[in-house]
Amino acid sequence: MKILVVGNGGREHALVWKIRQSLLVKEVYCAPGNAGIAELADCVPIDTTNIVEVADFAQTIKADLTVVGPELPMVLGVGDEFRRRGMPIFCPSRAAAEIEGSKAFAREFMQRHRIPSPRYEICSSPEEANAFLERAPFGYPVVVKADGLAAGKGTIVAQSASEAKDAVSQIMSEKKFGSAGAKVVMEEFLRGEEVSFLVFSDGSRVVPMISVQDHKRLGDGDTGPNTGGMGTVAPSTNMSLDVHKQIMQEIILPTIKGLDAEGRRYQGVLYAGLMMTDAGPRVLEYNARFGDPETQVIMMRMKSDLVPVLKGVAEGQLGDAKMEWTKEPAICVVLAAGGYPGEADTGKEVKGLPALKGVPELQVFHAATAVRDGKVVTVGGRVLGVTAMGQNLDAAVQRAYDAAGKIHFDGMQYRKDIGQKALARLHPSR
Ligand code: AMP
Ligand code: GLY
Repeated sequence: MKILVVGNGGREHALVWKIRQSLLVKEVYCAPGNAGIAELADCVPIDTTNIVEVADFAQTIKADLTVVGPELPMVLGVGDEFRRRGMPIFCPSRAAAEIEGSKAFAREFMQRHRIPSPRYEICSSPEEANAFLERAPFGYPVVVKADGLAAGKGTIVAQSASEAKDAVSQIMSEKKFGSAGAKVVMEEFLRGEEVSFLVFSDGSRVVPMISVQDHKRLGDGDTGPNTGGMGTVAPSTNMSLDVHKQIMQEIILPTIKGLDAEGRRYQGVLYAGLMMTDAGPRVLEYNARFGDPETQVIMMRMKSDLVPVLKGVAEGQLGDAKMEWTKEPAICVVLAAGGYPGEADTGKEVKGLPALKGVPELQVFHAATAVRDGKVVTVGGRVLGVTAMGQNLDAAVQRAYDAAGKIHFDGMQYRKDIGQKALARLHPSR
């Protein structure tokens, strides 16, 4: 098979790495890719938001399957463009991807289908939003969300009315997130630990992946601003078999069924971002795609061939596919550029990578990297995802941090506590 992967992040490097291992695959292309992906695939400089250009390229190379990583081309309808041309693609339709594209749509959908969620209210003007914040029916903190895609930055946890009003003004008046500012969703602030729960769905059948814990805040101990994700651990150690079953029955299956019933048949990865509250799991958000850096640890632990599952989803026929996973846990530590999650300091040379090639149970997945004058340099916020497995979580943590310590670029920042919460739960007496 010939496979085209769309995207340029750590998630796409992990997908390309896993797809390359399939005996079914002869050629892999990536649009546009990064310095790490270029070692495994033919990278082509295509603007992935130009969905016609992406489809034209797939048609020219006669791709047997195209796999889409990021949300933007999904929400712009790249899946529909391919299906219209009769070309196979792993990507939900535009209508199905709206569960990620619009937070207001997603919340109303959850309410219609009684999917456990926080209380919320949708406000369509700054006046309405400010009146809501005066009434403060959910108290403070309150969560203020821009309605559309905002590159993971449109959610603000506001501690007070004045912070919340600031957020409303940035989103709705200053239009900091563009058209995502037409509406805001106000949400009750939920307490607990977060879990990323990802499944494959062909529209009716569902195959769950392993659960993952992401670390969203920039700083150790979950402090500082929200980011796209600073590190992941798999499995998430706060998930029992019973809770797993509950999530499938109360959240995942009703979502897939509900979307189908509303004419939005869901073919792709469904990613539910959950808060594990004392009253049970609640949906914080849906994503219509693989998570980043969730995918890095998921691919590391996936024993099965990924390609038949991707193909089954694309064809709407997962059959009775089951996935096998390694017993060894995995962690991913994100190395970010100075300035991230604000404006990233780019163009810095990345040193120390060659010595880490071929180390067993270790993969340094590239995200924002490019090759310039024969050197690997940083080109964005999240630069690398140092991903390691180990016999146990301690060993995985040690391996990942040993490797992270050997990499250097100016301004490099990373969390030192990825995996510590999970370890504390495994060894309460330490
Ligand atoms: P989202 O943009 O919906 O992915 O939210 C980003 C992050 O904000 C989540 O990963 C949580 O850490 C936090 N968050 C979102 N919604 C809530 C909520 N209702 N209660 C508490 N934290 C939330
Ligand atoms: N790591 C969070 C996300 O992919 O949205």
